[in-house]
Amino acid sequence: MMATYHSGVHKYALFVVAWAVMLLTAGALVTSNDAALAVSDWPTSFGSFFPPLRLLHGGAGIEHSHRVIAASLGVWIILLAFLLWRYDERPWIKKVGYVAVGGVIFQGVLGGQTVLQLLHYWLPVMHACTAEIMFAILVSIAFFTSHWYIRDLPRYPDSHSPSIHSIVTFNAFLIFLQVLAGAGFRHHYISYVPHLFGSGIVLASVIWTAGTLRRRFPEVKAIARVRLFLHSLVGIQILLGLGSLWSRFTTANAPQPMPVMIAFTVVHTVVGAFLFATSIVTILVCYRLVPRKTELIFATTKGEVPA
Ligand code: HEM
Ligand code: HEM
Repeated sequence: MMATYHSGVHKYALFVVAWAVMLLTAGALVTSNDAALAVSDWPTSFGSFFPPLRLLHGGAGIEHSHRVIAASLGVWIILLAFLLWRYDERPWIKKVGYVAVGGVIFQGVLGGQTVLQLLHYWLPVMHACTAEIMFAILVSIAFFTSHWYIRDLPRYPDSHSPSIHSIVTFNAFLIFLQVLAGAGFRHHYISYVPHLFGSGIVLASVIWTAGTLRRRFPEVKAIARVRLFLHSLVGIQILLGLGSLWSRFTTANAPQPMPVMIAFTVVHTVVGAFLFATSIVTILVCYRLVPRKTELIFATTKGEVPA
């Protein structure tokens, strides 16, 4: 079903994405400052939803701010789901809105359990990874509500094998594995070797994916744009990763946390979320512009050529 473009809904979705970027940064600051257990209760902080300011210094201030920004995101997402339910004609996008509401609640409870279980059972790793998934869901909603996505677009058949849909999906899967390995190392569950090894794989995958997109769809502007984003972000991310590793090793014997380490590791975590979300948007662009094989077969048997 085609939808009507609502600029207000799209702008609001972009605002929610911007808020999520602030939340990813606040969360990464908690980890890099080693402030996860600075507030040891949950859902309250020091026994109250509005703890006195005098208790919120140092790590406790960082941890409590992260909780407040997260709770606000929950409210913004409920409103976003309401707007989708109220104004968008596409039944499936209403469901994406409900998934976002469920996701943010799940993420909040996981954050709480991370504290109550004293960072055991891989909970911080799960919390870090689901944060990236949440971010990708919000970026997708902003994309689905954009004028570009909603308007009529030409379609570009692709007869090659493997299909472009499989290639871009596999690329996103590899990037997610790399995020998982990064989180495992960051939260001291595994060594840095899988993450270092994964960087080579992700770099090769992005180069191959972007190259395939260029060869198969040389003239398609939207595809050229996502290729450019994928390339730039993976390059920036690798430099930031090298910086993070360097800052961890060179400041290992200094009083922690060192500002240079905080800066590198926080930005590396947040750009990791940008890269993963871009790989998801690349999938969405391909599904929007390139008919799947089943669509082509269906159109041919009906005597139609997909537009
Ligand atoms: C609801 C949306 C939330 C999102 C999107 C979110 C996101 C994040 C992110 C991105 C990190 C950084 C992970 C890393 O740097 O590896 C983080 C860390 C953390 N978050 Fe959240 N968070 C949310 C809610 C909460 C809530 C409600 C709590 C409640 C206590 C919480 C507690 C924590 C803790 C304790 C850490 C640090 C974990 C560690 O250092 O091991 N989060 N969060
Ligand atoms: C190529 C793509 C890469 C991606 C997508 C990526 C992604 C990430 C993410 C998302 C995290 C944080 C996980 C969390 O939320 O807890 C992380 C952590 C980390 N990554 Fe990467 N990374 C990449 C490449 C690299 C490279 C090339 C290096 C180093 C040579 C590197 C070094 C690190 C380090 C040291 C951490 C932990 C930061 C800390 O000590 O707190 N990464 N990575």
